[in-house]
Amino acid sequence: MADDLLVAALAVRRNAHVPYSHFAVGAALRTRSGRIFAGANVENAAYPEGICAEASAIGAMVSAGEREIVEVLTVAGGEHLVTCCGGCRQKLREFAGPTTRVHAADAEGVQRTFTMAELLPASFGREHVG
Ligand code: THU
Repeated sequence: MADDLLVAALAVRRNAHVPYSHFAVGAALRTRSGRIFAGANVENAAYPEGICAEASAIGAMVSAGEREIVEVLTVAGGEHLVTCCGGCRQKLREFAGPTTRVHAADAEGVQRTFTMAELLPASFGREHVG
């Protein structure tokens, strides 16, 4: 169940720094050890310097010494279901496997679940670099 991920993502989403887009996103990751790391999007007056919620959550995870994602959830508002942007798919891929579940949620709960391979098919990763 992704309920605990949704609770964590909704809570952290309240801290999103979104003065430019006003589009708050929360993300939560479960690692192999069972810990949950969450992050919100952090925008910047120099627009391209903003970071996505998923990137915030990955930063928290890696900073805590963890490296293996087993489940991901992203939550946002709006009338269209939000899935991770292309850049975040690649960032997640660094720490996840092809079968890792990635949930797309709104405030009501999980609306769709994908695998990493569905979101980022034929992807590039560590094994290519050697
Ligand atoms: N955003 C995320 O945090 N995650 C995504 O996967 C999609 C986009 C953020 C970036 C920006 O702060 C706002 O949503 C609007 O694009």
